[in-house]
Amino acid sequence: MTSSAIREILKITQRPEVISFAGGLPAPELFPLAEIREATEKVYADHGPAALQYSTTEGHLPLRTWIADRGGLAPDQVQITSGSQQGLDLLGRVLIDPGDVMLVESPTYLGALQAFAPYRPRFVEVITDDDGVVPEALEDQLRTTPAKLIYLVPTFQNPTGRTLSVERRRQLLEITKRHGVTILEDGPYNELRFRGERVPTLFELALADGTPVDDLNVIMLGTFSKVLAPGLRDAWVQGPRPVIDKLVMAKQAADLHSPTLNQLIVTELLDDVLPRQIKIISAEYGKRAAVMINSIAENFPPGVACTDPDGGMFCWVQLPTDAGIDTEPMLAAAVDRNVAYVPGRPFFASGIGHNTMRLSYVTSTEQEIRAGIEALGAVIEDQLVGRAQLR
Ligand SMILES: Cc1ncc(COP(=O)(O)O)c(C=O)c1O
Repeated sequence: MTSSAIREILKITQRPEVISFAGGLPAPELFPLAEIREATEKVYADHGPAALQYSTTEGHLPLRTWIADRGGLAPDQVQITSGSQQGLDLLGRVLIDPGDVMLVESPTYLGALQAFAPYRPRFVEVITDDDGVVPEALEDQLRTTPAKLIYLVPTFQNPTGRTLSVERRRQLLEITKRHGVTILEDGPYNELRFRGERVPTLFELALADGTPVDDLNVIMLGTFSKVLAPGLRDAWVQGPRPVIDKLVMAKQAADLHSPTLNQLIVTELLDDVLPRQIKIISAEYGKRAAVMINSIAENFPPGVACTDPDGGMFCWVQLPTDAGIDTEPMLAAAVDRNVAYVPGRPFFASGIGHNTMRLSYVTSTEQEIRAGIEALGAVIEDQLVGRAQLR
């Protein structure tokens, strides 16, 4: 195990004068505080001590039923977890044998690499472009390297903000099915779209041809972290019963069950507060994203590329590969100018990506975003000039 680079960086960026694009936290001023307080009181009134009692490992049945109904599943095809982070860990525990090949996007969610690593898979990166995983590259890879699992964040990916196109989703389903690969689809940002049309999940597409849930080669992780509040630690895994049955056993061994009180609170919020929150959060994130993307266009030197996400929380910056800049040491120069980001390298299973960085646009005001991007543009400019002089 290695300590998370992100957490280490967050420690130095706690200073109030630093404008931090480094975090992966949702905007706290948008949390539905009053609604959660009200729901908590209702839960105590309605459930009494049962709200504080041990409960079932699978999770609160009305919550599982709501999730199941939305997805065309039965409640016993849903396991509640303490954050999707626990879902990733439990899936690793249940599905990965040491040496199994696990395909991951290049780059991918760092927390997933950390969750799976203790189970000792062999990570193999799949080539991606602006539309996500490149199907032809996946096919080529599977011909030479058979894999058991592929982990994907297909919608508003962390760290790049990219979304896998519908055509590619269909192709990926076909290819993985043919090669006997199970897809782990992680979708924490699915609902946070601020532009364009909704894209069906891989799970939905796989079900659409009439395949029963228990025969799917897709397991999906969902969470309330980004649409309600991450501190509730309420999330779920949905998929075929044989996998869910194993997850129940793994979950029981890990922590018996997720907090009863929090599951009851979330259940109270599902019908009214959740859809309202999704609208509020998506609209606000959309505004902040636009400010960041426009500021980048105005302030970053030519040759620096940035994704332009349609939703989620992140954009991804690539400095010119031939400039030889490493964003890890550059972070010190950025923090000197009171701006911070996450260097991109830890998001690559293979350790490449020294010229990349992840920026979050959601926890800064529009004014801070403008000032921070201007400062970061100057830092990059300095580095480019410094490098050119060394040549
Ligand atoms: C892709 C991805 N998966 C999982 C998680 C973990 O979310 P949760 O709060 O549900 O554990 C995150 C959090 O940032 C994430 O970006």
